[in-house]
Amino acid sequence: MIFVYSLGGSILAGKDSQSLRLYAQALKELAADHQIYVVVGGGRIAREYIEKARSLGASEVFCDLIGIGATRLNSSLLVAALGKAAPQEIPNSYERAAQLARDYKIVVMGGLSPGQTTDAVSALLAEYVKADKIIVATSVDGVYTSDPETDRDAKKLEMMTPQALARLAATTEMKAGSRSPVDPLAAKIIERSSIPTAIVLGSEIENLKKGALGGHSGTEIRPE
Ligand code: UTP
Repeated sequence: MIFVYSLGGSILAGKDSQSLRLYAQALKELAADHQIYVVVGGGRIAREYIEKARSLGASEVFCDLIGIGATRLNSSLLVAALGKAAPQEIPNSYERAAQLARDYKIVVMGGLSPGQTTDAVSALLAEYVKADKIIVATSVDGVYTSDPETDRDAKKLEMMTPQALARLAATTEMKAGSRSPVDPLAAKIIERSSIPTAIVLGSEIENLKKGALGGHSGTEIRPE
C-alpha cells in the first residue's frame, strides 16, 4: 500500500537523536511492505521565525516562505535519521517526489507553496501518488467536537466525514503559523479525493503504524 504521512514539525524538532532514530526505525519497518511518503511540518522553529519576521513587518507570503524553509530543515533531520533508506534530496514538487519513490521506499519532503501548510502538501501528494491513506501525525490526539482546552464537554470523534472536516477547517483562522487539525485546503482535498485519513497523536511512535494499519485512538476521516 501507499501511505502519506503528515508529520507535525513539533513531533520531530526538539527530539534527541535517539528518538529521531526510533521514528526512522518505525518508518523503515513500514517501508518493508509499503511505499511511504513523509511530509514534515515546521514546528516551533517555523512559528518562532514567522512571528519574528511578522513583527518586523514581513508580508504573510514572506512568512510562509520562511515556514517552508523550516519544514525543509526539519525534513533534513528526518532524512539524516533514515540514512540510506531515503534520498538526501528534499523534492520540490509532487512529480519529483513520485520519481524518487521509484528508487526509495521512503521519500521525505517539506512545504511547497505559500498559503497552505504541510497538511495540504500531504493531501495533494496523496492524490498525486494515488495513496491508500493519509496519516496526520500531529500534536493533538484527534478531532474534538469543540476545543478541549477551553470546553470540558469536548468529545473526541472516532469517525468523521471529509465534509464535516472541511466545514471545521473552514472556520479556523488562515494565518502563517496558525494551529488547527488540518488547514482548509487540506480538508478540501481530502473531501474531493475521498482518501481515507487518520488524525493521530504523533508523539506516540506506535501511532505511525496504527494510523496506517489500524488500532489507533485518534479520528478516522472516511466518507459515509
Ligand atoms: P506547517 O505545515 O508546519 O504548519 O508549516 P502548521 O500547521 O502551522 O504547523 P504544525 O502542523 O503545528 O507543525 C509551517 C508554516 O510554513 C508555511 C505556513 O506558513 C505554515 O504555517 N507553509 C508550509 C507554506 O506556506 N506552504 C507549505 O506548503 C507548507
